[in-house]
Order: sequence, then structure tokens, then C-alpha cells
Amino acid sequence: METVVVYKSKTGFTNKYANWLSEALNCDLVEVSKAEINRIAHYDTVIYGGGLYMVGINGINFLRSNMDKLKASNIIVFATGATPDREEVIEDVVNANFTVEQKKQIKTFYLRGGFNFDEMRVGDKILISLLKVKIKMKKNPSADERGIVAAITHPVDFTKKSNIEKIVGYVNSLDTTDNIEIK
Ligand SMILES: Cc1cc2nc3c(=O)[nH]c(=O)nc-3n(C[C@H](O)[C@H](O)[C@H](O)COP(=O)(O)O)c2cc1C
Repeated sequence: METVVVYKSKTGFTNKYANWLSEALNCDLVEVSKAEINRIAHYDTVIYGGGLYMVGINGINFLRSNMDKLKASNIIVFATGATPDREEVIEDVVNANFTVEQKKQIKTFYLRGGFNFDEMRVGDKILISLLKVKIKMKKNPSADERGIVAAITHPVDFTKKSNIEKIVGYVNSLDTTDNIEIK
């Protein structure tokens, strides 16, 4: 089974997971700006990874606008974010990024990334600075909000190679089920 990992990364966290996945699955790795859909559509399994930016998956339009060309492929998405890995995170991400139809075709995973203010582009730095002001004005900021404020001065990296195991396991399970002949 031929697999490809396509990814987009602003500050390096998704890039790290994409590289680990391509190593573990021994498969091709393509940065989204270099991905050509007609070539990607030849793969049996397409894995797309992007960071979460206000719950949206960075670069996900590459998949969303090409779903018709990927009908024959297994589609897997992984989103990376600063939020701890909780069950409701994945639910929110799926609901915010995919239509009911797309949800049926795409298996989505969440991998905890990190937060690196120093590596962010100007636009993101402004957004995060505004968010910091908003959080600072709150009487009782949540633990996540306090975490964001702390991470602005001290970059945090929650990536762990073992986090990819759930995706590797899923891809390997596709490999075996594809070979089962139903008579
Ligand atoms: C403007 C902005 C918005 C973000 N929104 C979210 C979010 O909604 N959920 C989350 O978990 N992390 C959020 N993050 C953190 C990033 O998703 C996290 O740093 C991610 O690992 C970045 O991946 P990348 O460096 O590969 O692009 C946000 C970061 C920025 C700068």
C-alpha cells in the first residue's frame, strides 16, 4: 500500500510529526506547496497534517477542494495544536473543518504540538498579543489561557514521537482490511 504524508507547518511542530510519520511508515513526504493533486491521488493512503489556527487546520483547503479526486484513497488528517489532547478537541476540530460528507471520508487525529511565539509570523504575533491582553483582563482565566500567556515568554514543545503510534496503527489496519476478500 502506497502512502504519502502532505503537510503545512508554520513554526515546525507539524513538520516534526510529518517527518516522524514518513519515517515510521517508510513513505513519501511532501510539503503542501509542492503537492500536485494529480500525483497525490495515485496514493492508496493520503495523510494530511496542519497546525490549528483558531480551530482551523492550516492548509486544509488542499484536501477540501480536491475530495472528488481522492475518492479512491484512504484520507487521514492530523491536526497539531497547543491544547492538551482531550476527547472534545478532536470533536471540535472535525466539526469546524469538515462537512458531514467529508467527515465520512476522513479519519482525523489530534497530536499535541507546542507554542513558539518567536517563530511566528507578524500577523500571528499580533493576534496572540491581543489574546494575551484579553486573557490578562480576565478575573479567572482558565488553565489553558494561563498556559498561553506563559508560553509567550517561554516556548513550549509537547511533541512526542510516541504520539504518532495511533496513526501508524490505523494505517497498518487499513493495509490488512484492504486485503480481506469478502465473498
Ligand atoms: C494565531 C494562533 C491561533 C492558534 N489557535 C489554536 C487553536 O485553536 N487550538 C490549538 O490547540 N492551538 C492553537 N494554536 C497553537 C498552534 O496550533 C500550535 O502552535 C501548532 O502546533 C502549530 O503548528 P505548526 O508550527 O506546525 O504550524 C494557535 C496559534 C496561533 C499563533
